[in-house]
Amino acid sequence: MDETIRAKVESLLQQMTLSQKIGQMVQTERMVITPAEVKAFHIGSVLSGGGSCPGDNQVADWVDMNDAYWAASMEADDEHLAIPIIYGIDAIHGNNNVSGATIFPHNIGLGAANDPDLMEAIARVTAREVLATGVDWTFAPTLAVAHDPHWGRTYESYSQDSALVARYSSRFVQGLQGDLGQDGIVATVKHWVGDGGTTHGIEQGDTRISEGELRGVHMAPYLPAIDAGVLSVMVSFNSWNGDKCHGHSYLIDYVLKQQLGFQGCVISDWDGIDYTADSYFDAIAIGVNAGIDMFMVSEHWRPFIEHLSCHATHGTVSMQRIDDAVRRILYMKFACGLFDKPRPAERYWSNHESFGCQEHRDLAREAVRKSLVLLKNEDQLLPLAKDARVLVAGKNADNIGHQCGGFTVAWQGTSGNEFVVGGTSIWQGIQSLAANAVMSSADGEDADPAQHDVAIVVIGETPYAEGMGDIRDGDDVIIQAGSQINGKLKTLEPYGSSLVLEDLHPEDLATIQRIRDKGIPVVTVMVSGRPLVANSEIDASQSFVAAWLPGSEGQGVADVLFGDHAFSGKLSFSWPQTTSPVRVSDTGYEPRFPVGFGLE
Ligand code: BGC
Repeated sequence: MDETIRAKVESLLQQMTLSQKIGQMVQTERMVITPAEVKAFHIGSVLSGGGSCPGDNQVADWVDMNDAYWAASMEADDEHLAIPIIYGIDAIHGNNNVSGATIFPHNIGLGAANDPDLMEAIARVTAREVLATGVDWTFAPTLAVAHDPHWGRTYESYSQDSALVARYSSRFVQGLQGDLGQDGIVATVKHWVGDGGTTHGIEQGDTRISEGELRGVHMAPYLPAIDAGVLSVMVSFNSWNGDKCHGHSYLIDYVLKQQLGFQGCVISDWDGIDYTADSYFDAIAIGVNAGIDMFMVSEHWRPFIEHLSCHATHGTVSMQRIDDAVRRILYMKFACGLFDKPRPAERYWSNHESFGCQEHRDLAREAVRKSLVLLKNEDQLLPLAKDARVLVAGKNADNIGHQCGGFTVAWQGTSGNEFVVGGTSIWQGIQSLAANAVMSSADGEDADPAQHDVAIVVIGETPYAEGMGDIRDGDDVIIQAGSQINGKLKTLEPYGSSLVLEDLHPEDLATIQRIRDKGIPVVTVMVSGRPLVANSEIDASQSFVAAWLPGSEGQGVADVLFGDHAFSGKLSFSWPQTTSPVRVSDTGYEPRFPVGFGLE
């Protein structure tokens, strides 16, 4: 730790009372706390849960909100020390909660681009769009190494290949944090650790692997990020061999802090400690003693403060541990320059006109182009001629909400073109390049070989986030997982029960077949957060493109379909051909397309 900062931290810590220290350890949701309460309880941080936004969700609404919290946190008097609040959000593919933001492809698509320079550029632009809203902290990048496409968070993972995730991690952190002056925001690497390795790919499930595999596969991407000076790490909901990460002092206190030398702030996930014990009182001591420094508390921050005070008074949590937590929180705040920044309304980037600007969108469009993976191209049907008579069909063709996926404006994402402001749908992109393209009004029923030379059918998944994206083959999956975990399992309603696209979305194959049966060649573009078993759809199409979740700039898809740019994306996940075995590590797993595959 920088000596000047260390001195400042120690001097401030000396002045703090127990309640001021405990307040710093709390992060709660904007809906349940006012600026006056931030001051009265010395709260260290406020966040927006997915989709939680002030006012009309305009940039100015965010700046005003942050300004009010900041002003309250900086009022100094006999009872209160001026310690700037830090506001956190999930800016995981652009500043995705805010209306009009540039929405980048989700991580799975960025993995296919295999371009670390691009990652740093995306992170820098994301930081600018976050700073425009007066916010200083994002809960990104996710460094999960997803091993099972059943997992609803597969799209938050760059790759099943730990080495690729490791190549990205420090670049993304550098792009976000910059020089930690006025141009940077605090990055968070998450979720520590093993989130992508749970049995059956259950969100919040159990990762049953050896320590060697945990370190070699799931921890490895964190090392370059820690070297790059990442200021926060978020603990994971999952368990490791039955024990919850949120209560795991070996993983947090010993491995992360002592062995790897992480000096920043360890934050819990959303109410993450609540599942470690039946009683909330006990859960707090478990979490603090495991080494968590700041607690993301969705609502019950008052009981949290009361209980932690009680633990401190009775010695069930030591003052030494509380001081370690507060030191790390203050270090994060000093290191990111928060104490030197003026109020949010007066900061250089606040309300900046570059938010959602063309230059940022051009970068997102480049990322889209580089993320596309061409899986099949019979008779070199692609690229298409711009004067071809193209019929465009499929439920995801003209739907910016769907192409952005989860964590876009709302936690679970949106549908249609109304809520994501700015950008183009894939259809709009095609329309701008191909004068003779028309949109099917009836799912391809109107396909006519006399009028259409070729069809582009845009199919795939609809938005989801976290456990609501899980695919669970049956209830026994939960029963088995739950019985292995020491603590509670919080499962959400899954997305479906089969990894076969035809089972999940029969309408997609129907549209492809309807058009193909009329003798019109079909180019299928699949929008999805993961590879799925799509043999029928691939076989029925002449060309097949995996577009992942491209975000707001659908134009990037059209750029490549019509040959303005070449296909260059390579699979960062293997593409399954059967539903079992489907885990990368399973013996006998034979993918339809391996990692690295992608036609040019
Ligand atoms: C997710 C985290 C996220 C947090 C705050 C949790 O449910 O697991 O990834 O950062 O919510 O929105």
